[in-house]
Amino acid sequence: MSQPARIGVVTVSDRASRGEYEDRGGPAIAAYLEEVLTSPYETVPRVIPDERETIEDALKELADEEGCCLVVTTGGTGPAKRDVTVEATLAVVEKPMPGFGELMRQVSLKAVPTAILSRQEAGIRGGCLIVNLPGQPKAIGECLDAVFPAIPYCVDLIEGPFLETNESRFVTFRPKKK
Ligand code: MTE
Repeated sequence: MSQPARIGVVTVSDRASRGEYEDRGGPAIAAYLEEVLTSPYETVPRVIPDERETIEDALKELADEEGCCLVVTTGGTGPAKRDVTVEATLAVVEKPMPGFGELMRQVSLKAVPTAILSRQEAGIRGGCLIVNLPGQPKAIGECLDAVFPAIPYCVDLIEGPFLETNESRFVTFRPKKK
């Protein structure tokens, strides 16, 4: 049997990393994956502070050493001084994937006007797709519902594992094999 897909779940938050409050973003991403993925996978969780170097190191470790085909981050996408997740992401990816951020902001604007404040991005590092989400736990479903249908085919194209989703939840954009 093939190995389960590995998916990094990174909470970027000074306070959650210091234990000042409970991480709600990481568990919300894990719950979302549990709901939509039907093929075998395991999550690789990290809770780290809003430090650019620490974020870059975590993303590199998850992509290069932990063998994650997908890494989803939450937090640090806004305009505040310590919001540097986007800079860290763009520093470690080889190919930015701007469509992800564009679509997530477009959909999020229907839910909250403050969606314009998220600079969320996505990109490819080796065999790994990295996607940024805002820190609000309720943003996680709002954003992932918009882009998740594109993720399995994107992972196919970077030669990752074949991710299968619950088709009653949404239909993925995977072209039929010729
Ligand atoms: N997007 C969605 N879908 N839902 C939200 O509640 N919150 C916004 C925005 N994007 C939000 C959202 C807010 S209030 C901010 S400040 C920015 O994301 C950046 O959040 P972050 O710095 O926690 O990543």
